[in-house]
Amino acid sequence: MAKIQHDLEIKFGTQYGKEEEEAVLRVLRNNAPTSGDECIAFEKAFAAYAGVKHARVVSNGSSALFLSMIGIGIKPGDQVLTTPITWIATAAAPVTLGAKVDFVDIDLETYNLDVKQIDAHITPQTKAIIPVHLYGQPAEMDEIMAIAQKHGISIVEDAAHAIGAEYKGRKVGGFGATGCFSFHEQKNISTLGEGGMVLTNDDAIFERISLYRSHCTRVHGVSTKYCKLNEEKFPIGKKFWWQDFDDCGYNFRMTDIQAAVGLEQLKKVDQFNQKRIDHAAFITEGLKDMAGLTLPKPRPYNKHVFHLYPVLIDPKEFGLTKEDFIQDLLYKYGIKAGFHYIPLHYSTAFKERGFKKGQFPNAEKLGDQLVTLPINPRMTEAALDHLVKSVRSLQS
Ligand SMILES: Cc1ncc(COP(=O)(O)O)c(C=O)c1O
Repeated sequence: MAKIQHDLEIKFGTQYGKEEEEAVLRVLRNNAPTSGDECIAFEKAFAAYAGVKHARVVSNGSSALFLSMIGIGIKPGDQVLTTPITWIATAAAPVTLGAKVDFVDIDLETYNLDVKQIDAHITPQTKAIIPVHLYGQPAEMDEIMAIAQKHGISIVEDAAHAIGAEYKGRKVGGFGATGCFSFHEQKNISTLGEGGMVLTNDDAIFERISLYRSHCTRVHGVSTKYCKLNEEKFPIGKKFWWQDFDDCGYNFRMTDIQAAVGLEQLKKVDQFNQKRIDHAAFITEGLKDMAGLTLPKPRPYNKHVFHLYPVLIDPKEFGLTKEDFIQDLLYKYGIKAGFHYIPLHYSTAFKERGFKKGQFPNAEKLGDQLVTLPINPRMTEAALDHLVKSVRSLQS
């Protein structure tokens, strides 16, 4: 097996610098609290960056999605629509609250939800749609928002792949009732391996998300650091306070060390994304004439931030199946390609909920033929060149 190329091996490439190191030490020396001033500062900066009224930091992207379902009032028996080509967290959020998920097939040009097929899946029980801005390319938000308006249903954006991505000049995460972000180590920015953020312009949704994030704790009287919501209502300095729990909630909080790192990462996100965009252009240029490969074609009105670089392989024309492509790239050239994703309706979780192979042909085509090539801001020109040459030599 070829030695794995260093730059390609670290395939998602979280990049921390001196600023993050200093932030960690600063907060550590300040007793490394949870949900303190660093979290509030990260939320403010993130909301401003995305152009949205409220932001709440959470433990990860999955809890952002779960809290969003609570925020919009998803209940047992409700139905939520999403794509079968996503990480299971997207579909698990409504399911773990007792709701039903129905999948809508994807569009073969963007790999996002096929907006023409959504209407056919809407029932009286449909309460929400979760579009995923897959691989960093925004979903068709005009059409999706129009469908939501027509049927009176909510949109929760899964923007785990897409921090900084833009649809028609507007950043994702602020179109729907909420926008959910992940700072997992594989994402375009990270908060020490795990982390997430929920955005919303809706005060009531923000309050519900904030409460359920932290055991629905409501502090009456003087506010505590865990209940910033009450600060405005109860001036600090009152002599008494008492605590109540509105309901049974969760602990989906983030620590201040993570938030301090997130603040520094946020300052660099546009620069990281630009590198991803430039790297994607280099790969596209290097592979564009190859038979049997379909390369990403971002919609002209989208800013695609290339969390991943997807390539569709036609096995007859290219001469290799997806599995052989992945194996040969790894064993001959030391490059780890990925498959994102195995369609969710193939999983035990969703087969047991009545889904069958054959229901979503476009998603299944991706399941059979799509690989994701390594792309990250720290890839050097030499690494990119090696990647392109290696893919090219697979065909010779
Ligand atoms: C599309 C998508 N949604 C949600 C998530 C969940 O994020 P997290 O891993 O931070 O819980 C992920 C993570 O990989 C994802 O890729």
